[in-house]
Amino acid sequence: MASRRISSLVSRSLPLLSRGGQKTYLGRGIHRFSTAAALEDPIKPPVSVEYDKLLINGRFVDAASGKTFPTLDPRTGEVITHVAEGDAEDINRAVAAARKAFDEGPWPRMTAYERQRILLRFADLIEKHNDEIAALETWDNGKLYEQSASIEVPMLVRLFRYYAGWADKIHGLTVQADGPHHVQTLHEPIGVAGQIIPWNFPLLMFAWKVGPALATGNTIVLKTAEQTPLSALFVGKLLHEAGLPEGVLNIVSGYGPTAGAALCSHMDVDKLAFTGSTETGKVVLELAAKSNLKPVTLELGGKSPFIVCEDADVDKAVELAHFALFFNQGQCCCAGSRTYVHEKVYDEFLEKAKARAIKRAVGDPFKAGMEQGPQIDEEQFQKILKYIKYGKESGATLETGGDRFGTKGYYIQPTVFSNVKDDMPIAQDEIFGPVQSILKFKDLGDVVRRANSSRYGLAAGVFTQSLDTANTLMRALRVGTVWINCFDTFDAAIPFGGYKMSGIGREKGIYSLTNYLQVKAVVNPVTNPAWL
Ligand code: NAI
Ligand code: MG
Repeated sequence: MASRRISSLVSRSLPLLSRGGQKTYLGRGIHRFSTAAALEDPIKPPVSVEYDKLLINGRFVDAASGKTFPTLDPRTGEVITHVAEGDAEDINRAVAAARKAFDEGPWPRMTAYERQRILLRFADLIEKHNDEIAALETWDNGKLYEQSASIEVPMLVRLFRYYAGWADKIHGLTVQADGPHHVQTLHEPIGVAGQIIPWNFPLLMFAWKVGPALATGNTIVLKTAEQTPLSALFVGKLLHEAGLPEGVLNIVSGYGPTAGAALCSHMDVDKLAFTGSTETGKVVLELAAKSNLKPVTLELGGKSPFIVCEDADVDKAVELAHFALFFNQGQCCCAGSRTYVHEKVYDEFLEKAKARAIKRAVGDPFKAGMEQGPQIDEEQFQKILKYIKYGKESGATLETGGDRFGTKGYYIQPTVFSNVKDDMPIAQDEIFGPVQSILKFKDLGDVVRRANSSRYGLAAGVFTQSLDTANTLMRALRVGTVWINCFDTFDAAIPFGGYKMSGIGREKGIYSLTNYLQVKAVVNPVTNPAWL
């Protein structure tokens, strides 16, 4: 297939983007693609990206096998374009490039200030292309364009500026050891990092992984999710335009069991970082152990409790609990997917939560005012419908929703179950869709025990007006993040990660740096201790 540039992708998308009208339909910025004039005179390609190729050693190259696979528009299930299908041989090529760039290239050897400036230039370039990147992300993923343009891409910028700030602030320690020794630690880059990311937040996952690895001087082979390969290639190209040396970031599109597994097993990869399902996380860990024992950070699934206490302002709690579950079509590892409500406010909460879900605006994610777009693909769509069926069969009460939305694409009706019990599959497993499970609790002891009874421990939400209750719950909950009277509050500086089967390690913030650093102890005897 002929190489596809962003211009052809954008111009092919024009009829879709312009279908409902202009500015208001398309949201901030994108309207310039939607005018008739733009259709006749397509904008000049801002960046030439070859989506049907892999980005290896600073160049777009064909997959060794020559194979490609389609990436789909979740609104319709139709093919957007075909991308290169990387496999083990391409991973070998990408790792060789990253190895050479680490062992011989300028990246780990240049000053931290020079690395910082490249990352900052990259952030500026993303900002310049905010709307094109947002449109590409929404097209490939189905998430709301307004959120892509006003949250996800700006967060990508913010994250890279944050990590750029760390680049020249990596310090070791001097250590007071026994004996006449001068002892210090050097914090050195770990080497070649293998990174595997999922499809639910392709750009944020790119930033969480690539940002700290580059700031600390590592080189990378990144495998994108097969559902959303496009946006990483676009921003990867921008990173090279910002001055990244060849071989430092290599991007391989491809499937998990082929390209992903080859990366995990590779003997020349020094570190792995993975985000995705707990099931695949176990495979990643096993492959790392069976090959060269490379250290692994894992950010996995969740079944996060959202706890509405008896003193809560019910209207506010309903809105926040709704957001906690339904944001991003429910496709969040930290989704507040067990809504625990105190028995005193349960009936009022339930009635209002149901009304809120009924009101939720579902439709084309490019259209302004929409709250929910399609799920990512057929597999996730079927998985969610299966769990809705389990919910009905296990005796939970279906309050609203429960079926597909419309007749085309992967849309699902906002769904609410009440009378949910802790042992039901909808209260135990990650559904990853717009399905809210509401459970009743009696007192704090009851809800702490039940919230903690999950095999997951990623996050929790607490809604209360009592400082005492908040203080108690924040300590009692066995999770990596507790949001009090807020939810999904993300910031580059706030660490994120899971207890229990939700993962190993932390990303973002100062904690993410240690994932990509080796600590070297240097011991130097003082030969004339008498002089000290
Ligand atoms: P997945 O965990 O299989 O895929 C995530 C990434 O891992 C993708 O890049 C995939 O290609 C790669 N992968 C798959 N098999 C691999 C293997 N054997 N070796 C190396 N890499 C491999 O998740 P999937 O199938 O996309 O979704 C299944 C469920 O996982 C979802 O329904 C959801 O419950 C959960 N999930 C959780 C995410 C999170 O943010 N923690 C993100 C995506 C999915
Ligand atoms: Mg897609």
